[in-house]
Amino acid sequence: MITGMDQPAEIIVADDPPALAEAAARAIVELAREAVAARGRFTVALAGGGTPRATYERLAQAPLRDRMPWDRTWVFFGDERGVGPEHPDSNYRMANQALLTKVPIPSAQIARIRGEAEDPESAAVEYARRVAEVFACKRGELPRFDLILLGMGVDGHVASLFPGSPVLKEVFRPVAAVHAAAAALPQRFTFTFPLINAAARVTFLVAGPEKAKMVKAVLGEPGGGLPASMVRPTDGRLTWRLDRPAAALLKVARSR
Ligand code: 6PG
Repeated sequence: MITGMDQPAEIIVADDPPALAEAAARAIVELAREAVAARGRFTVALAGGGTPRATYERLAQAPLRDRMPWDRTWVFFGDERGVGPEHPDSNYRMANQALLTKVPIPSAQIARIRGEAEDPESAAVEYARRVAEVFACKRGELPRFDLILLGMGVDGHVASLFPGSPVLKEVFRPVAAVHAAAAALPQRFTFTFPLINAAARVTFLVAGPEKAKMVKAVLGEPGGGLPASMVRPTDGRLTWRLDRPAAALLKVARSR
């Protein structure tokens, strides 16, 4: 099993994508309730891509919808594509359609990345500032998200941190504008590893047989240079939620 700096990652395998979504959505509600009970609010960064959509849809439906403390929930995005909020490829649009427009969360508690910005660098700085404001961070201090959700690409990318990108080595900026040549939409915005690894909990949502090889590479070879292997919360917990096809090449995995 891969280890985070302190604790081993938890690997949870669901039978299929709907079961993965159901279990993930339930776990998010539990975390949210715990966070609100302990600290008065829940801060989450959503993942883009296709896999999380079903989880977001579950969260938007009863009974989970009614168990979520929406008025105490703050929503951010771990990455965004370089498009506006109405664009079919916008991560914000996906989350908005699947979840955010369907639940009673105050709009002031949703922070989207301005993917359409003409000056991507300023948009990244602006987003980092927004995050820092909500968390009331002192200069140089990193926010500790209650939960950062991530997907993983077949190449091992997470958020918009692609293999070989110089931004993998970022130590200072919590949010960066990046050019990901391998991506269909190369202009991207992304949380960097210092911010991801400062979270209290990071949860991967990964489904499909096409991910199996990379899941094996990442979970079998900790410390490799793949972006997904670099997700190692310093003082937090790491959970991988997989469906059975994505977990097919792993030897040891717990079913749930
Ligand atoms: C994005 C992402 C990205 C995504 C993976 C997995 O904006 O594209 O946030 O990191 O999570 O590419 O995507 P799927 O879930 O669609 O396979």
